[in-house]
Amino acid sequence: MLKKTRIAVMVSGGGTNLQAIIDAQKSGIITSGEITLVVSNKPGAYALERAASNGIDTYIMDTEEALIEKLREEGIQLVVLAGFLKILSPTFIKAFENRIINIHPSLIPSFCGKGAYGLHVHEMALEYGVKVTGATVHFVNEIPDGGAIIYQKAVEILDGDTPEVLQKRVMEEAEWILLPRAVEEISAKIGRGEI
Ligand code: GAR
Repeated sequence: MLKKTRIAVMVSGGGTNLQAIIDAQKSGIITSGEITLVVSNKPGAYALERAASNGIDTYIMDTEEALIEKLREEGIQLVVLAGFLKILSPTFIKAFENRIINIHPSLIPSFCGKGAYGLHVHEMALEYGVKVTGATVHFVNEIPDGGAIIYQKAVEILDGDTPEVLQKRVMEEAEWILLPRAVEEISAKIGRGEI
């Protein structure tokens, strides 16, 4: 049997996407990879509690240099940005080339790039008046939200939606399904040496 791909999940906030990956590991949707570290740039992030209560090691990010060293020490093969709201430098991205994936709460190339994160993305979609939005999982390169797309799923916008209501629907109908699926697929490919 192939060894499981060692995964670090990077978070900044509530960590519902982290929870979706943890749940997918438990239910057998993810079998090719294993979260061995959760990294946060915010010491108080609730996501850290989710990690701790599932017995997963946590690490608070200080400098990128120190983080790169930590990830190497831990033998991390795949970095998953799950609500990590800080832009990573080209040096970090180069250190883990084709080994970083991100979930974004819109259909890229709409409502993405610098400044488009979290609830703002849904505010932008509602302000524009689009009738369909969604989520995207993509590889991370040096262009914010510009790397190759792995999965996308559309979600309807309904009359009377607030940013909060829309965020919840996009999470439930798209993010929490797509991200575990992508984590399994990319972990399996890394395990088989395909990427
Ligand atoms: C999620 O909606 C995620 O797609 C978004 O932040 C939220 C984090 O929620 N990420 C971005 O906007 C990245 N540009 P979570 O902490 O509950 O997973």
